[in-house]
Amino acid sequence: MSKQDFVTAAALVVFGVVLVAQSSGLPGEPLAGITPVEFEEFRLGQDDFLEVETTDEGLGPAFNGTSCAVCHSVPAVGGSGIIAEIRAATRGPRGEFVALHPSGETLFHLFSVPSHSCQPTIPAEATIFARRVPIPLFGAGLVEAIPDESLLALEDPVDRNRDGVSGRAAIVTDVATGERRVGRFGWKAQHATLITFGADAYRNEMGITNDIFPTELAVGIPADRMRVCDLIPETEDKRDPRTGRRGIDNFASFMKFLAPAARGPIGEAARLGEQIFGAVGCAACHTPSLATGPSGNPLFHHRQVPLFSDLLLHDIATGDGIAQGAAAPEEIRTPALWGLRFRRPFLHDGSAATLEEAIGRHGNEAELARRGFERASESDRAALLAFLRSL
Ligand code: HEC
Ligand code: HEC
Repeated sequence: MSKQDFVTAAALVVFGVVLVAQSSGLPGEPLAGITPVEFEEFRLGQDDFLEVETTDEGLGPAFNGTSCAVCHSVPAVGGSGIIAEIRAATRGPRGEFVALHPSGETLFHLFSVPSHSCQPTIPAEATIFARRVPIPLFGAGLVEAIPDESLLALEDPVDRNRDGVSGRAAIVTDVATGERRVGRFGWKAQHATLITFGADAYRNEMGITNDIFPTELAVGIPADRMRVCDLIPETEDKRDPRTGRRGIDNFASFMKFLAPAARGPIGEAARLGEQIFGAVGCAACHTPSLATGPSGNPLFHHRQVPLFSDLLLHDIATGDGIAQGAAAPEEIRTPALWGLRFRRPFLHDGSAATLEEAIGRHGNEAELARRGFERASESDRAALLAFLRSL
């Protein structure tokens, strides 16, 4: 019996549910080697991730989506999507970033529940507008298990080695634990852990307050309206008496055990393309592989994580003008490239439809690498693209 069969069979025996074994090769499956107990946590998490919330459960007053999966579903549950969220801010006298709300929050929700005219509006002073597309969650548990020290070791904020690349670790306070950590999730590396990101998403994408983010925050709704609009002032994410778990626990388990997308077929061109990727300097930021640290759980104990990212903040001239977490307006975290063949459009705002366009937008710290790509022979460029399409 293969490991996958064992997991499925064990789950069948333990939980008495019929599972559709995904043999499509598409992402969306749990990590191989998961125990039956972990599989149950993954499955409960996936249920909750798919669940469409209503106002009775705390949806709103303002929200961007009614379930996690509406935005994270391409090409499988947990993936990416094309719904873009909106952030807005304004500029001060020297052109600097200024938030429109004292909390520094910049997210403006797209929708509201149909009561008491609670639709958020963007103030007329706004002059900076940013769009952000969803990030796929495949392999997120492995990314979470990469030690902070490994990311700090990759930093080169003042470009000591004079290669033009000066990545910076995003030091953030993890709200769940209060610890100073290296952020790695989100386009601005604004969160370090999956429990905190999930809790932030539950409140900020869906308007469901929880133990980590207990108060509604919708900066497009003025404070006096919010008192009328917030129909459930108490914490909305309740512990399920049957499972003892909160929604935020379920999301974290689903994401933690979600396997990375497997590599596609690797032909001759892709093999050559990987060398070119290193030679022209793409790998200076898109670090081919990092490793997890020691862990009591064999799934996360000293594992290679072939994510093609250093998870650091860089200025490659695509910045969205928004300061968030530790990130300056011009900085974006290097996106992982694993599973790239299932993804499009590209870049944080989805503004690049093709890989060539995404590469063509790399400037500043990535100027030399982009020029290297542009100057390469036609066959070398084709090989590099073949490599990217094999990820
Ligand atoms: C309206 C669309 C939308 C909904 C609904 C949504 N997300 Fe997201 N998700 C996004 C976008 C957009 C990003 C990138 C946000 C950013 O960095 O600004 C993202 C990023 C993430 C990330 C960071 C992944 C990484 O590797 O960097 C996690 C984790 C995540 N979402 C989890 C969730 C969970 C859990 C839910 C449900 C509670 C959820 N999301 C609901 C749109 C959505
Ligand atoms: C200085 C660091 C750096 C270098 C060097 C670099 N990149 Fe990037 N790359 C980034 C950052 C940061 C982004 C995200 C930019 C954004 O979304 O605005 C990105 C985005 C991408 C994306 C889009 C991914 C997605 O999910 O949207 C691709 C593809 C990509 N890079 C490929 C390359 C290739 C190929 C090279 C070499 C020619 C390269 N990069 C060199 C930092 C770098």
